[in-house]
Amino acid sequence: MHNPQLNKDGDLQHLLTIEGLPKRIVMDILDTAESFVGISDREVKKVPLMRGKSVFNLFFENSTRTRTTFEIASKRLSADVINLNIQASSATKGESLLDTIDNLAAMHADMFVVRHASSGAPHLIARHLVETGQSHVHVVNAGDGRHAHPTQGLLDMYTIRHYKKDFTNLTVAIVGDILHSRVARSDIHALTTLGVPEIRAIAPRTLLPAGLDQMGVRVFTDINEGLKGVDVIIMLRLQNERMSGALLPSAQEFFKSYGLTPERLALAKPDAIVMHPGPMNRGVEIDSAVADGKQAVILPQVTFGIAVRMAVMSILASK
Ligand code: CP
Repeated sequence: MHNPQLNKDGDLQHLLTIEGLPKRIVMDILDTAESFVGISDREVKKVPLMRGKSVFNLFFENSTRTRTTFEIASKRLSADVINLNIQASSATKGESLLDTIDNLAAMHADMFVVRHASSGAPHLIARHLVETGQSHVHVVNAGDGRHAHPTQGLLDMYTIRHYKKDFTNLTVAIVGDILHSRVARSDIHALTTLGVPEIRAIAPRTLLPAGLDQMGVRVFTDINEGLKGVDVIIMLRLQNERMSGALLPSAQEFFKSYGLTPERLALAKPDAIVMHPGPMNRGVEIDSAVADGKQAVILPQVTFGIAVRMAVMSILASK
């Protein structure tokens, strides 16, 4: 079956999901990102790889890290970046998503970076661009509903490789609201592609999606069991905005049963790293002593996100 994010030569045309993305493309993104990491230490932090290109940031859902790091990444690649203010746009007057896209494409957009609350919105845009003869315009999924957040997955892989070097001897635990998490889905696909032998999902039954077993993920409902001997812990936020109905007694109860405390962290390997995509809810999924502790690599994740997004955009723009 044709992969809609690859062109006829098998090169990356859009980045929509890590699911089905060939390992050579994942590795190319990580290696390209490596070449950009040092750029922030240089006096001139820019390279001309996207000079003359226009990147439109379309964030239909709130963001701090992703939107800002895409903007920084675009500027470091010398692109012109336009941040559409959705609240002040004609989307609030009933203009459809695809009409908005057609109008922005008519302004000679080269790339759309799209975050949307609806799963599949970036796919819809990419398909529309192909169907309307505008396949030269690239789409990057910056998080769609509970479906995928591919650049977060890639920056998480970059972070793991930075600290652990080799994927093929790791045990990685993903903890918390896996049911509503696009980050968890992207991470599971990326970890699988990169050959991580043991991926664990730790959550109460109400926050576990169906089908994890088929994805090769070991499920734990007891966090103390699940954290034993792990190399990497990826904490997730409770996504109250995506929950319908009461899936949990309370945030306090969740912290008591699943919060990452120093005592629980001590069950992992002594050199385990703690990751979190953000935004964090301190005292809900993670204790401040852990979030600010020696093993946390949460802020380096954000910094690596710039290089990874530069890599994705420059690879797309080179096609
Ligand atoms: N990790 C992440 O997507 O954070 P933002 O919602 O702040 O972009």
